[in-house]
Amino acid sequence: MPSSIDRLTIIQPDDWHLHLRDGPALRDTVNDAARHFARAIVMPNLAPPVITTAQAEAYRQRILAARPEASDWQALMVLYLTDNTPADEIDRAVASGNIHAVKYYPAGATTNSDSGVTDIKKVYPVLERMQKLGLPLLLHGEVTDTHIDIFDREAMFIERILIPLCLQFPDLKIVLEHITTEQGVAFVSNSGDNIAATITPQHLLCNRNDLLAGGIRPHNYCLPILKRSNHQQALINAATSGSAKFFLGTDSAPHPQNKKESACGCAGCYSHHAAIELYAEVFERAQALDKLEGFASLFGPAFYGLPVNQKTLSLRRAPWQLPASTQLGGDPMVPFYASETLQWAVVDGE
Ligand code: NCD
Ligand code: ZN
Repeated sequence: MPSSIDRLTIIQPDDWHLHLRDGPALRDTVNDAARHFARAIVMPNLAPPVITTAQAEAYRQRILAARPEASDWQALMVLYLTDNTPADEIDRAVASGNIHAVKYYPAGATTNSDSGVTDIKKVYPVLERMQKLGLPLLLHGEVTDTHIDIFDREAMFIERILIPLCLQFPDLKIVLEHITTEQGVAFVSNSGDNIAATITPQHLLCNRNDLLAGGIRPHNYCLPILKRSNHQQALINAATSGSAKFFLGTDSAPHPQNKKESACGCAGCYSHHAAIELYAEVFERAQALDKLEGFASLFGPAFYGLPVNQKTLSLRRAPWQLPASTQLGGDPMVPFYASETLQWAVVDGE
C-alpha cells in the first residue's frame, strides 16, 4: 500500500489481551476500551484473582455496568488457573457462554500472579479438559526461576515448558501472550494452527534502549521486559506479515503514576488511550497499513471461533500529540508513549 494514503477504514478491532482492573479504575479503563474496539479478552489477575466461573460472571457484570451509555462493547471473560482449579470448572466455564479462555501465570511471574501455577503438571487434568472442549489456554510465557536472567525468561519458557506442553496436548488451543522475542515468533510460526500469539504496541514500538538508555523510563517497564532491537524487528515482521497466527493484544495494564515512578515500580504499560493509533503507527512505519485489518480485526476472531465485527473504524492521517497524563480511578496516570506524536487519528462518529 503506498504510504501516501491518508485514510484507512478497517473492520472494528478487538483487543485479545486487556487488563481492566476493578473498583474505581473500572469506569476509566472500560470507557477507553469501548471507545474504538468492539470486544476485549479481559485478564483475571485481580486481587484476589478471578478463579471461578461465578467470580468471572460477577466481574463481567461490574464491567458491563461501567460501560458508557448505549455502548455494545463486550467483555470476553477469562479464568485464572491455579494449582487447585478443578477440571469441572472448565465445564462450568464453557457452559456459561461468557468465558472464552483460561490464563496461566507461572506463580510469581508478574503483577498479581502469586496464586499462579507452581508446576504445570499439577494442572494437566484441567488442560486435558480444555483440550477436549476447545477452550484456549493463554500463557504468560516466562519462567520464574530467580537465577534465570530476566531477558532470557521467555526463550527459556518455550524450551522448558511450552515444547513439552505441546507434545503432551497436541490439540490444545494456546495463545502465547505478549511475545517479545525472535524465539517466540519462530516457535509460533513453526507450530500448527492451534498455536497463536498476541503482540503489544510497546514491544513493537520500543526495545530495551527505550527503557534503560539515557535514563531509566519506568513507563516503558512491563513484563515480559522489552528486549533488544533484533527481537523488536522480528515482532514487527510477524505482526505485519499477514500471518493469522499473530494478532492484536495490547496488554494495556494501568498503574497509577506513583506506583510506576517508585524505587520498586510496577510492571505494565497503559495503552488504551490510543491503542489502535499506536498499532497504526507501527504498520505505517513498516509500510504495511494494508495488513492492519487482519492483525487487528480478523485473525483474533478466527482463532477464538467468534464472528467478525459488523461495524467499521476509520482512521485518517492527522498527526496528534498524546496526552502527558490521564486519570485512573481518580489518580494521575502516565500512559504509554505520553506526549509523543502519532501520525494516525481515529475519525470519531463514523
Ligand atoms: C500486567 C499487569 O500489570 O497486570 N503487567 C505487565 O507488565 N504486563 C501483568 C501481565 O500481563 O504480565
Ligand atoms: Zn497482561
